[in-house]
Amino acid sequence: MKSDASENAGLDPSKLPAHVAVIMDGNGRWAKKRMLNRVKGHERGADTVRLVVRTSREIGIRYLTLYAFSTENWQRPEAEISALMTLLKRFLASEKQEMVENNIRLNTIGETDRLPADVRKALAQSKEATGANDGMCLTLALSYGGRAEIARAAREIAEAVKEGRMDPQEVTPQRLAEYMYTAQVPDPELLIRTSGEFRVSNFLLWQIAYTEIFVTPTLWPEFTRDEYIEILRDFGKRERRFGRIMS
Ligand code: IPE
Ligand code: IPE
Ligand code: MG
Repeated sequence: MKSDASENAGLDPSKLPAHVAVIMDGNGRWAKKRMLNRVKGHERGADTVRLVVRTSREIGIRYLTLYAFSTENWQRPEAEISALMTLLKRFLASEKQEMVENNIRLNTIGETDRLPADVRKALAQSKEATGANDGMCLTLALSYGGRAEIARAAREIAEAVKEGRMDPQEVTPQRLAEYMYTAQVPDPELLIRTSGEFRVSNFLLWQIAYTEIFVTPTLWPEFTRDEYIEILRDFGKRERRFGRIMS
């Protein structure tokens, strides 16, 4: 699976976002509609993750960031958290070879030290196996919260100032960005949220200052390749002004 013009579904490569971020929402509602356990929704959601990763790589997206588990999600019932962790491990095991073969590098953002030891181990193994890949960077946001990320950056900067390694005058947006988990990743140009909720739920607060947001009513387990491609096509038509006036 390589990305070249013939495989990118007729999309203009010059109008593609380099970085797509996704708030994958609606697994529970998908299950509820079918009188199923929420975990069934997460299982189907994991299939959609595979589909979106594969499609992104085919089309030539350079960075894909998926909101898989938020700092707030720790407040869900223990059984659901544990099912999500099991699914994550299963995903990592089943996708490792494909990531290696398709030149995808795995990255994570968030307080990953809060994750169970077996999940941390699986993550470390997949990161190690894919570390040299440069076709696409897949970032999983795990135990991630935008406010916690900004607080962490502020803490590190405060330490640097206290120890005399940094002058307060140096604290500019550019320098602050270097203290985010995403220091090595460009800001997303496109943020997709499924399940029709018009909120950002503490995702990439710093990074989405000028991101184009696309909300679809589709529940995550029902999100398709065709809908993804339509959103990418729509993105290509949007005029991004960044506060300026376009003639
Ligand atoms: C998104 O689906 C997956 C995670 C947050 C882990 P939800 O579990 O939030 O599904 P809804 O919002 O209850 O439908
Ligand atoms: C956002 O979905 C978090 C993830 C997709 C991991 P939530 O379902 O947790 O967010 P809210 O509760 O709708 O804000
Ligand atoms: Mg939700």
